Amino acid sequence: MSSGHRTCIAGLAEQIAVVTGGTRGIGLATAEELARYGCAVIVVSRDRDAAEKVAQHLHQSHHVRSLGVAADVADRRSVGLMLDEVLAFGLGRIDIVVNNAGYPVESRLWDTPLHEMPAEKLEEWFNTVARVDVGGARNVTHAVLPTMIKQKSGTLVYVSSTPALSGHKATPYTEAKAALLGLMRDVALNYGASGIRANAVAPGNIKTGWFEGLTVEEQRRLASEAYLKRWGEPQEVAKAILFLASPLSSFITGQTLVIDGGKVIH
Ligand SMILES: NC(=O)c1ccc[n+]([C@@H]2O[C@H](COP(=O)([O-])OP(=O)(O)OC[C@H]3O[C@@H](n4cnc5c(N)ncnc54)[C@H](OP(=O)(O)O)[C@@H]3O)[C@@H](O)[C@H]2O)c1
Repeated sequence: MSSGHRTCIAGLAEQIAVVTGGTRGIGLATAEELARYGCAVIVVSRDRDAAEKVAQHLHQSHHVRSLGVAADVADRRSVGLMLDEVLAFGLGRIDIVVNNAGYPVESRLWDTPLHEMPAEKLEEWFNTVARVDVGGARNVTHAVLPTMIKQKSGTLVYVSSTPALSGHKATPYTEAKAALLGLMRDVALNYGASGIRANAVAPGNIKTGWFEGLTVEEQRRLASEAYLKRWGEPQEVAKAILFLASPLSSFITGQTLVIDGGKVIH
C-alpha cells in the first residue's frame, strides 16, 4: 500500500523507534527499514559520530526525524542518559525498541569448547558476552518499560541467534542468546496486559562484518549449513524485525522467529 511518496504500514508512521547497535549490520538495516516506513528512528551505538551519521542518512533518504545517540547498553548509567535523550526526542513516547547490540565475534570466545576453556577465564569470558548480549537488552528494557506501561503500548524485538535454539560449541554466546529469549518471554508475559508486545528473531549466518574476516572456505562451509545454501543478508533480518515491531504482528507476542535459510527447524 502506498500513500504519496512513502510506502505505508498502518500505524507505523511517526512511531518513535529505538535501535541499539544501529550503525552497522543487522541494526543498520533495521533502522533503514523502520525509517522507510516512516518511523522516527533513534540510532544507538557507543560511537556518537557513527550514530549521528546514520541518523543524518535516514533523515535525508527517508524524510523522517532521526537522532544518533552514544550509549553503552552494558552500562546502566549510560542507558539512563540515553533514555533522557530518547524521551526528549520522542516528546515522552517510546513505541518500538529493537534490542540488537551484541558483543562482536571474537574467535577464542566463540570457538573454544567448554572443556578446553581455562578455568580461571571462565567467569570473565561468559560475563563479557552476557553483559552486552543479555545485560544490555535488560538495561534498555528496564529503562523503557515505565514509559510503555504509562502509554499502555509498545513493542520490543530482541535479536537472539540460532544457537539459543540448537546449541553451538561457543557456549558464552549460546547462553547469552538463550537468556535473552527468557527475558523476552518474561516481558511478553508480564506486560501483555499493559498493551506491550515482546518477540525475538533468531538469525542464522548473516553477511555482516564478521563475514569479511572469514576465509572463502569458511564462508562456503557456513553457507552450506542452511537448506538454502547461502548466507542471509542483513535486510532479510530487518524485514522480519519490521514485521514484529509493526501492527502487522498485533496478536503475536512471546515468539521467536528463526531467519536462517532453514538451518534450524523447530
Ligand atoms: N551477523 C550474524 O550472522 C548474526 C547472527 C545471529 C545473531 N546476530 C546478532 O545480531 C546482532 C547484530 O549483529 P551484527 O552482525 O549486525 O553486528 P555488528 O555488525 O558487529 O554491529 C554491532 C552493532 O552493535 C553496536 N554495539 C556493540 N556493542 C555495543 C554496546 N555495548 N552498546 C551499544 N552498542 C553496541 C555496534 O556499534 P559500536 O561498536 O559503535 O558500539 C554496532 O552498531 C547481534 O546481537 C548479534 O549477536 C548476528
